[in-house]
Amino acid sequence: MTLGNSLLVPFKLNFTILIIFLHYLLATASLCRNYCNNIPINYPFGIDDGCGAPQFRRMLNCSATDLFFLTPSGSYKVQTIDYNKKTVVLFDPSMSTCSILQPHHDFVMTDIQSAIIPPSPDTVFVLMNCSIDSPVLNHYRSLCFNFSGHSCDELYASCTSFKLFHILSNTTPPCCFTTYGTVKFMSMNILDCTHYTSVYNVDALKGVGPLDWLYGIKLSYSLPDLGCVRCAKSGGTCGFDVETEAFVCICSPTNNATRDCGGAINGGKSYGAPNSLLGVFVLFLRAIFSL
Ligand SMILES: *[C@@H]1O[C@H](CO)[C@@H](O)[C@H](O)[C@H]1NC(C)=O
Ligand SMILES: *[C@@H]1O[C@H](CO)[C@@H](O)[C@H](O)[C@H]1NC(C)=O
Ligand SMILES: *[C@@H]1O[C@H](CO)[C@@H](O)[C@H](O)[C@H]1NC(C)=O
Ligand SMILES: *[C@@H]1O[C@H](CO)[C@@H](O)[C@H](O)[C@H]1NC(C)=O
Repeated sequence: MTLGNSLLVPFKLNFTILIIFLHYLLATASLCRNYCNNIPINYPFGIDDGCGAPQFRRMLNCSATDLFFLTPSGSYKVQTIDYNKKTVVLFDPSMSTCSILQPHHDFVMTDIQSAIIPPSPDTVFVLMNCSIDSPVLNHYRSLCFNFSGHSCDELYASCTSFKLFHILSNTTPPCCFTTYGTVKFMSMNILDCTHYTSVYNVDALKGVGPLDWLYGIKLSYSLPDLGCVRCAKSGGTCGFDVETEAFVCICSPTNNATRDCGGAINGGKSYGAPNSLLGVFVLFLRAIFSL
């Protein structure tokens, strides 16, 4: 009896700690969701207001099935986010590709987006079926280039979708590989091209035919350093005050800090009430290892 009770006490204690831990975990998770379907959402991004960096506020929208990047020209499906390379790959469902021809649609970003998360240098915009009056065939012809041994005309010959231009006009209409800068400063109407597509990772496409290119837009972001590393190390989630946009380290549903969640790190003797997820986690691990 006595033996049974003394075995039961640590079990009950551990069980209580486990419950507290799960409670904190779920509550923190609900404040700042860190997944949208299968895409991890980490700093500087956030899908709940007040989470992530304020500069990236309202750029992402998580629907039941997909994650979208919002710009003034529309919602673009996020394919992947690479937090090490700091890149986001988007796909515009209304853009043409090698297999489908769709009417053009401008790709427009806000000034903030163009500054902190612009298309990467290895993303090429392809302007197709341009009129002979197009600026990129005249005054701005120097904005067009060939990449990795590929010329733009190759697309008219290789892609089922773009062959149509050739068939309809019986000539090869002008076309241009250019950078985001061109599209940013001249809208599709000024450029006078009826269709566009975009290709990313172009540096890796030497000797690869257009059928196998990667169609989409790769964005490359810079990370504002607002002390997030310190907050994250202490077990907090980086966020901001929704009114002032000042940095907030979200420690638990009931506790926000201005810098970090304090306590429980660096072996500090904080055996008081755990005030952070990490603190609870450390207690949880201690409880397991003391079994
Ligand atoms: C902590 O900050 C987040 C993000 O701004 C906010 O949603 C939450 O209500 C704050 N919690 C407390 C307890 O102040
Ligand atoms: C975000 O998605 C939700 C649901 O999918 C939708 O109701 C809402 O209008 C979208 N917000 C924006 C800003 O597009
Ligand atoms: C190509 O552009 C011309 C005008 O420059 C337009 O009349 C024609 O319809 C376009 N072709 C396609 C397939 O949209
Ligand atoms: C790109 O390649 C094509 C075909 O090889 C060539 O005719 C064209 O002059 C090249 N354009 C540029 C800008 O180098």
